[in-house]
Amino acid sequence: MNKKVLILGIESSCDETAAAILENGKIKSNIIANQSIHEKYGGVVPELASRKHQQNIIPTIHQAIREANIHKNEISAIAYTQGPGLLGSLLVGSSFAKSLSLTLDIPLIDVNHIHAHILVHFIENNQLSKPIFPFIGVVLSGGHTQIIWVESYFEMKIIGTTLDDAIGEAFDKIGKKIGLGYPAGVKIDKLAKKGNATRFSFPIPKTPDLNVSYSGIKTAVINFLHKNTQQNSNFINENINDICASVQDTLIKISMKKIEKAVLEKNNNRVVIGGGVSANSKLREILLEKEKKEGWNVYIPPIEYTTDNAAMIAMVGYLKYKENKKSSITHSPYSRMS
Ligand code: KG4
Ligand code: ZN
Repeated sequence: MNKKVLILGIESSCDETAAAILENGKIKSNIIANQSIHEKYGGVVPELASRKHQQNIIPTIHQAIREANIHKNEISAIAYTQGPGLLGSLLVGSSFAKSLSLTLDIPLIDVNHIHAHILVHFIENNQLSKPIFPFIGVVLSGGHTQIIWVESYFEMKIIGTTLDDAIGEAFDKIGKKIGLGYPAGVKIDKLAKKGNATRFSFPIPKTPDLNVSYSGIKTAVINFLHKNTQQNSNFINENINDICASVQDTLIKISMKKIEKAVLEKNNNRVVIGGGVSANSKLREILLEKEKKEGWNVYIPPIEYTTDNAAMIAMVGYLKYKENKKSSITHSPYSRMS
């Protein structure tokens, strides 16, 4: 019989404090404490995020252990997000993980947040089929936009990245200008369903290789809104669905153009997506169409694993634990990917 391996995952890279328990790769609990405080500022305020993590971390971990119906002494190892992310936020999760690993005298495992968005597909509870290596990983989130060549669990190479904003950041910044508050991605997605995506057109930038850029569309939309609201102060309200549909269509087109290029260049049509924006219904629809019409093998995570969560951190922790890839208490968090 397989040895029972219980991993506690801790995620605190941005504005979600999350903890999860996995038993041999299967979820036993998955708790997320969102920080609504950032809504009124229209974006994440790093200092406030760290303070909220500090308040949330103990109750969140307690709840994860309680819901998993285990005792803390049964935990085999602690996996935590080492980076990339907001340094103050990462410090809260990493310091807690280090102290708990010392107290319980169990191994500590550091996890790269981007890897976790991709490896979340290997969680055992998913009824979905698991990706076959090698494949093209695409992380689309509020803080990151990367196309990654994934050869194995631990061999990943970034082959494309954003030259400026992350795609989720573009959704959020444009949404703020439209008056949708923060975060705006899911609201744009919802309104876009009722809109006409061909009504307004915004530029698709020319960027080298597999890199993308979203700051041009952000500026174009701001200028477009400014011009039109000068002529009609009610322009946004009257056209909100069409504006959202057109903006979303452009952001997804920019991303799809490079995903298609990666598929051609790598001669590999296994596309594995992750990150908050992978919840977007238009993106999912287009990818499923690629599967149907062009034979791509598309791997789309269940909605609960798209935005930041600790189940994905615990999953990478489990994979590393099995390979004896433990880390030292002296490792420090990092804000950017090397
Ligand atoms: O992965 P995530 O939770 O955080 C980072 O690691 O950055 O992603 C959050 C981002 C936000 O920008 C949010 O607006 C976006 O994901 N998002 C969406 C949707 N749901 C969340 N963007 C577009 N469509 C959605 N349905
Ligand atoms: Zn993330």
